[in-house]
Amino acid sequence: MTDIKKGLAGVTVDETAVSKVNPETNSLLYRGYPVQELAATQPFEAVAYLLWNGELPNGAQLAELRQVERAHRALTDDVRAAIDLLPTSAHPMDEVRTAVSVIGARETAGISNVMDAVGTPEGNLERSVRLWAQLPAVVAYGQRRRRGDELVEPRDDLDYSANFLWMTFGEVADAVVVDAFNRSMILYAEHSFNASTFTARVIASTLSDLYSAVVGAIGALKGPLHGGANEAVLHVFTEIGSAADVGSWLDAALAEKRKIMGFGHRVYKRGDSRVPTMKAALDTLVAHYDRPDVAALYDALEAQFVERKGIYPNLDYPSGPAYDLMGFDTLTFTPLFVAARVTGWTAHVREQQASNALIRPLSAYVGPDERHVEGYVPDAADVDAQERPEEAAG
Ligand code: COA
Repeated sequence: MTDIKKGLAGVTVDETAVSKVNPETNSLLYRGYPVQELAATQPFEAVAYLLWNGELPNGAQLAELRQVERAHRALTDDVRAAIDLLPTSAHPMDEVRTAVSVIGARETAGISNVMDAVGTPEGNLERSVRLWAQLPAVVAYGQRRRRGDELVEPRDDLDYSANFLWMTFGEVADAVVVDAFNRSMILYAEHSFNASTFTARVIASTLSDLYSAVVGAIGALKGPLHGGANEAVLHVFTEIGSAADVGSWLDAALAEKRKIMGFGHRVYKRGDSRVPTMKAALDTLVAHYDRPDVAALYDALEAQFVERKGIYPNLDYPSGPAYDLMGFDTLTFTPLFVAARVTGWTAHVREQQASNALIRPLSAYVGPDERHVEGYVPDAADVDAQERPEEAAG
């Protein structure tokens, strides 16, 4: 009997130097650094640099990255026109996926030989930085467009996180909000061979281009078992209403065998290493916006679900309500994840390209035995091919 690893659970498919997840110690390292140390000390730009280059930047390197990022912040006309073609009721993940397609087609225009699609290591680093720099405008414009608000132009005097919030809300955010947002971007940036990163690596392994890999990754991230969970958590909060209603809601949900979004993880079985940092950021927002009701609901659902199922929250559990308090629409949550994770995806794409093997697993066939179309009479060439398959295949 073929040993099938459904969902590739427990299968190690390659090496990576980008990040290390250790479920035993509940730790997550980006290029060796614990993620909570990075979240406490670094701007997101420095962590992006770390993921791409393997080391934290010095002052000059950070300044250079910021200069490039600032130069590509504005929403370009082609991307805006493509987004505007979509109905405002389209899911924003479809907007972001479309935007990356447009950016990719523009950036790779003129490459007519498919063998050149993969690009060079240096060229793909530049592509990664430019793509990362363009995504906040896409996400921010998407939310504003749905609300019927005008586009807000970027501001060169603000760093990545402050400018992202500025372009979304049209006002300069308080420092506590910028800090919580920056932490969330860092925590979402990278997580080894998760479903979307693996998707990106599969696409890169065919020697396709970096943008195609990111488009595929966005498709994988959209699902509620992956990135879509942060959006789904808010739907759960809205459905429950208040801390007092958690018990009865949970009784009904568990009786229906529902999956509770924001809990559980394929790798971490005793808690997600990123949750304490994001929960601390959520607490600062709860205090800032004076919303103890949010904290009460959060705590009640966590306590009761953990007690009854022994399954712990993942990063989407605190980040969902945090983004909600900041003023993001629920639909915008997963695109925020894209804006962060594009750093990890592109770091993995370049790593895959540097040591490539086409990813092509096997399957165990369980369909009907060989059978034939009624009335079909094989011609001489078919008979020949069946008798001498190697020669006929060439
Ligand atoms: N709510 C209720 N039950 C859950 C659960 C959840 N969030 N997560 C896991 N379980 C249960 C499953 O029902 C299953 O129970 P069973 O053995 O009685 O059938 C058991 O725990 C194992 O879960 P399974 O889905 O097989 O584990 P997995 O490793 O494939 O799943 C997730 C990992 C993330 C897909 C899963 O925990 C989940 O769907 N979580 C909710 C979505 C989410 O928050 N995703 C974001 C991940 S970062």
